[in-house]
Amino acid sequence: MKTALITGSSKRVGRGLALGLAARGYAIAVHYHQSKDLAQELVDEIVAQRGRARAFGADLSSVSQTENLIPSVVRSLGPPDCLINNASTFEYDTATSFTSSLWDEQFNTNLRGPALLSRDMAAALPSGKPGCIINLLDQKVDNLNPEFFSYTVSKIALEAVTKLMAQALAPQIRVCAVAPGLTLPSGAQTQAQFEETRARLLLPEASSVEAITQAVFYLLDASSVTGQVLFVDGGERFQSARDYSDTIKPED
Ligand SMILES: NC(=O)c1ccc[n+]([C@@H]2O[C@H](COP(=O)([O-])OP(=O)(O)OC[C@H]3O[C@@H](n4cnc5c(N)ncnc54)[C@H](OP(=O)(O)O)[C@@H]3O)[C@@H](O)[C@H]2O)c1
Repeated sequence: MKTALITGSSKRVGRGLALGLAARGYAIAVHYHQSKDLAQELVDEIVAQRGRARAFGADLSSVSQTENLIPSVVRSLGPPDCLINNASTFEYDTATSFTSSLWDEQFNTNLRGPALLSRDMAAALPSGKPGCIINLLDQKVDNLNPEFFSYTVSKIALEAVTKLMAQALAPQIRVCAVAPGLTLPSGAQTQAQFEETRARLLLPEASSVEAITQAVFYLLDASSVTGQVLFVDGGERFQSARDYSDTIKPED
C-alpha cells in the first residue's frame, strides 16, 4: 500500500486531496496544525470507507516540529511515497507595508517547511522505491501584483524549490507543482466577492478542489514529468493587466 502525507489536510483543498488519494488506495497521513478535531474526523471518514489513515499534528513554522513529522509518519504508516505540500498561510501585506514577523511566518510555513519535508521524505524513502512530491503554489507566481507580498514571494521561491528538488532527487523522486487560481474564499473575502471575481475569469469552471485533485492524479501518474508546474486557474494568470484595487483587504 502506498502512503501519502498531505500537509494541512483537515479541511478545504487538502481534505479533498486526502479523500481523493484515499479512494485511490493510498494510506493517508493527515497533517494538521490547529484543526485537530477535523483531522480526526477525516481519519475516521477514511477508515469508515475501508481506507487507512492517521492524524499528525505539527506547526510547520517550527523547525523541530517539522523535522519530527516524517519520522512520526514512518513509524506509524511507513515511509511516504507521496508528499503533498499543501499547508499554507495566506496573510495580507504589501510590498510597502510588510513586516519582518509576517514575512518570517509565511516563509517558514510556506517555504522552509515544504523544503525540510521534501529533504526528509527523500531520506526516508527506501532506495529503488519511486516517490513523488507535489507542491501547491498559486497562479500569482505567474501573475504578479504587489499585494499579498510575503505570501507571493514565498510561493515564487517554492516554485524554485520545486525545480531544484526535481533536479536533486531524480530519478527516484519526481517533484512537481500545481498552481491553483481562485478556488475557495480565503482571508477576508466573502462568498459574494468570491463569486464576483470568479465570474470574470476566462473559464467559468475556474479551479475547484476536484480540478486540483485531478491535476494531482495526473502528476502522480506522469512518470516522464518532473519539475513541472501545472496551472489550474481558469486562465486567471492571463488577467495580469487587471486593476488589483479590488483585492479584498482585511479592513474592507
Ligand atoms: N483557496 C484558494 O483559492 C487557493 C488559491 C490559490 C492557491 N491556493 C493554495 O492551495 C493550497 C490549499 O489552499 P487552501 O485554501 O485549502 O489552504 P488554507 O485553508 O489556507 O490552509 C490549509 C491549511 O494549512 C494549515 N496551516 C496553516 N499554517 C500552518 C502552520 N504554521 N503549520 C502547519 N499547518 C499550517 C492549516 O491547518 P490547520 O487548519 O490544521 O491549522 C490550514 O487548514 C495552499 O497552498 C494555497 O496557497 C489556494
